[in-house]
Amino acid sequence: MAEFKLPKNSRYTKGKTWKAEAGATNIKRFNIYRWNEDDGENPRIDTYEVDIDKCGPMVLDALIKIKNEIDPTLTFRRSCREGVCGSCAMNIGGMNTLACTKDIADFKGDINIYPLPHMDVVKDLVPDLTNFYAQYASIKPWMQTQTPAPSGKERLQSRDDRAKLDGLYECILCASCSTSCPSYWWNSDRYLGPAVLLQAYRWLVDSRDENTGERLDALEDPFRLYRCHTIMNCANTCPKGLNPAKAIAEIKKMMVERQG
Ligand code: SF4
Ligand code: FES
Repeated sequence: MAEFKLPKNSRYTKGKTWKAEAGATNIKRFNIYRWNEDDGENPRIDTYEVDIDKCGPMVLDALIKIKNEIDPTLTFRRSCREGVCGSCAMNIGGMNTLACTKDIADFKGDINIYPLPHMDVVKDLVPDLTNFYAQYASIKPWMQTQTPAPSGKERLQSRDDRAKLDGLYECILCASCSTSCPSYWWNSDRYLGPAVLLQAYRWLVDSRDENTGERLDALEDPFRLYRCHTIMNCANTCPKGLNPAKAIAEIKKMMVERQG
């Protein structure tokens, strides 16, 4: 197996190579971004050789095996390990995706793993999502009503109105889409990004919500909404198969329609 080499212009340094255990016959190499603010060192790429005959099938299984059996200092987020919590989103083989639903067998050669792009890094594969969550909170992601619920019961929806939430409610807020978007890379302080706008649309089309006008007012801004240039990376990368660009286009349509 030829040694992993960084490109000549890489800003990272080549770190340690952790060789597979003696007798391993089915070796997969994982080249993983490492950075720890506390050691004052430049980011580096460590290489781990993993015997995938003794590992679960997903990239997250390999990361857990590395942490448990090879290098306990490797840091990453995960919780549900079944594509529900969104916490294991990272850049794997050049695509933002979920480590727990990404099959190791999808990759022919080495697997290169980086944190989600263009985010501050807390440590190793853990991005700082503070701004992302603040933006999510800014769209008030809960039902807002003016009228009391009928007879004190829950607010019902027709089947057709409920169906309008399909393709939206499945979003797990993993941030893969927003961090794949060049508009978000350059303007994440002011542009809300695809994930948060998809969530905003989820509340705009909810037949039970009664603050549609206020929600649209809050998005009417050259940056918050209109920095989407339909680049479509969001839809290409979403590990849940959602289409944030379409949701953003629908918000823009609502803006035009309300102007009459
Ligand atoms: S739309 Fe898809 S990629 Fe974006 S946050 Fe939701 S689940 Fe993740
Ligand atoms: S660990 Fe929950 S989505 Fe991957």
